[in-house]
Formats: sequence, C-alpha cells, structure tokens
Amino acid sequence: MASVHIELPQNSYAIHIEAGLLGLAGERVRGGAPHARCALVSDQTVSALYAQPTTASLEQAGFQVSRVDLDSGESNKNAASIERLYRGFLEDRLERSSPVIALGGGVVGDMAGFAAATYRRGVPFVQCPTTLLAMVDSSVGGKTGFNVPEGKNLIGAFHQPALVLIDPTVLRTLPDRELLCGIAECVKHAVIREPELFEWMKKNAQSILELDDAVIVELIERNVSIKAQVVMEDEKEHGVRAHLNFGHTFAHAIEATAGYGKVLHGEAVALGMLAATRASVEAGLCDVALLDSLERLLDTFGFETACALPDDVILEKAMRHDKKVIDDRVRLILPEALGRITIRDDLSPSCIRAGWNHIRQG
Ligand code: NAD
Ligand code: GLY
Repeated sequence: MASVHIELPQNSYAIHIEAGLLGLAGERVRGGAPHARCALVSDQTVSALYAQPTTASLEQAGFQVSRVDLDSGESNKNAASIERLYRGFLEDRLERSSPVIALGGGVVGDMAGFAAATYRRGVPFVQCPTTLLAMVDSSVGGKTGFNVPEGKNLIGAFHQPALVLIDPTVLRTLPDRELLCGIAECVKHAVIREPELFEWMKKNAQSILELDDAVIVELIERNVSIKAQVVMEDEKEHGVRAHLNFGHTFAHAIEATAGYGKVLHGEAVALGMLAATRASVEAGLCDVALLDSLERLLDTFGFETACALPDDVILEKAMRHDKKVIDDRVRLILPEALGRITIRDDLSPSCIRAGWNHIRQG
C-alpha cells in the first residue's frame, strides 16, 4: 500500500492508495471517524457499481449506513442536489460525529464535502474517489462546493477530509473520456511543479492509457504528493495554491459558456492550459517551445486541442465571474517554463484573445 500524509495546523490526514481498498472501507473509516451512523453519498452510476460492496464493508464494521444517490454528472452539481443531501441526512438523523463518505468522482466529492462542511456546522468527511481526476486532485485539499448559473464552484467551503481511500481498480470501469480528464490534471501538476513528471508521463503514456497496475499507482502517488505538498504550503489559497488553477480561468469560462457537462472539466482544463500558455507566449513570458511540448503531450494522450467556442466577448464576460477575479481584474496563472509559474492580472486583451484564438476550431 502507498500512503501520502497531509500535515496541516488543524487537520492532518492520510491518503491511502491500494487495490481493493473499497472492500476495507468499513474498518478504515472506523479507525478515522468512528460513530454508530454514517452517510454514503454517491451518484447513480457509481452507486450501481460500487455502493453495495462499500456499504457491506461499512455495515460489517458496525455502521448504520444512510444512503443518498445523486443524479450523475456536472449538470447536477447544484443547490438542488445539496438540498437532497441535507434532507437525506436529516431524515436519517445523522449526528454531529456521523461521517459523510463520498463515493464517486469530483462532483460527488465536492458536493458531499460541502454538505459535510455545513450540516450541523460541520461533520467528519471521508473521500473515496472513483475517477482519476478525483483521485489525483479533487479528493485532496478540502475544497468543496457547487455550481450556480453565474459560474463554477462559486458557492463553497474549505472542509478537509478525515481520510482519503483510493482504490485504483475502480478505474477499470471508468469511460476513456473520463480517464483523460484525470490525465489533464496530472499534466497540470507536471507543468506547475515537476518537469520530471512531465517526461515520465510522456514515456509512460501508453501504459497509463492501458491502466497498467504499477504505472497507475505511481501516477496517482506522484500526483497526490504534489497536490499534498501545495496544500501544505498554502491551505487556503493565499499564494502558491493558486498555481493549481493553471488553465482553470479559461476552463471555467468554457464550461460555463458551453453548458455544464457538455465540455468535461478535464477537457476544458486541457484546452485552458493551452490557451493560458499561448497567452503567456504572446505576453513574452514564456518560450513557444513550452507550448509545443504541452501540445505534443496532450496530443499523445488523444486530447482535442481545439474546440468550437462561442464569441470571445461571451467568454471574457464568463471569465469575469471567476473566483480569481480581484477588483475586476482577471488573474491568470501563467507558465514561464516547466515547473515555473507566475500570476498576472495585467495581461492585455490581445494576449487573452491570442489564447482563445489558439484553441478556437477552424
Ligand atoms: P464526475 O464526478 O462527474 O465523474 C465523471 C463521470 O464518471 C460521472 O458520470 C460518474 O458517474 C462517472 N464515474 C465516476 N467513477 C466511475 C467509475 N469508477 N466507473 C464508471 N463511471 C464512473 O467528474 P470528475 O471528473 O470526477 O470531477 C469533476 C469535478 O471535480 C468538477 O465539478 C470540478 O469542479 C471538480 N474539481 C474539484 C477540485 C477540488 O479541489 N475540489 C479539483 C478538481 C476538480
Ligand atoms: N484544484 C485546485 C485546488 O485544489 O486548489
């Protein structure tokens, strides 16, 4: 078993990575967040595949399990789903020490985490991520929330999990398109922090796509370690944690403008990283060779590197709702080189337009 530890002033926790870990969820949760009751939150797709063995393991460890299955997908990451969670928790009389366990991708994890952060002013929270994206990114670091029509994740809270349990075998049922979304976040980590990971992903692209057991565990462990390190340096995003948003200002605008769930989050991040890197080149902050290598790596994995985008006026308007906007200025996370990032709020509209034009189809 591989484990990564996060040490924070108020919340330290372990992230365990092991094949078959879902079948041991009960004893692990009992060790980290013991109580008579717990809630298992999932979505309908993941629930049909993995809720039964997870529930059995929790019951075997003595938990009375309350279940809520949300509708799947980004378009359901909204206030109505959060309300369903609160109603379910209240009906089953979850108490202040009853853990909420998220079994699913980032959508389930972000919403179950927000409900856990706010129900009875906060209950313990356990993440069992089932997409690569959730394993390497969203299950670690305590960002929770949901979308509103004005923008992505605009309502949210920081609420660190008590424990993260990653069972990589569940990736075998994940659709290829969703696997790519997780790979996009791994490429992001490589660009912002670890040139060696960038090279390693290039060399192991085929094994990653084929879900080679050892390569996948290494991919998850390396990426969780990067994420954990960043979160330990800056838990509440006052500084370097913002680097994790590389590509996200463009990505969130694409997702909001296309309609949530049309362009998947990871697909938007891949496009957003290209747009941001192109903007950085245009502003004279980085060499075009970086844009070329990023484009080649994304192409090796089979990402679309362009998409049909609506008018850039709409997109720039969407960018203004981004959480990173300060005093009405759009803050962009821009690469200067592999492993070196800068944050700028003074890019000219023509640099931003060059970014959009780079990923615009046709
Ligand atoms: P998702 O949760 O919608 O999952 C993608 C799809 O895969 C869903 O339809 C789901 O039902 C299905 N699925 C999940 N696991 C499966 C499995 N093992 N087998 C078969 N199907 C499976 O999407 P996601 O990509 O995991 O997460 C995206 C969300 O994460 C976005 O809302 C984004 O904002 C959020 N996010 C949050 C953070 C954070 O730090 N909190 C970081 C990155 C992304
Ligand atoms: N995914 C961005 C963050 O966790 O800060």
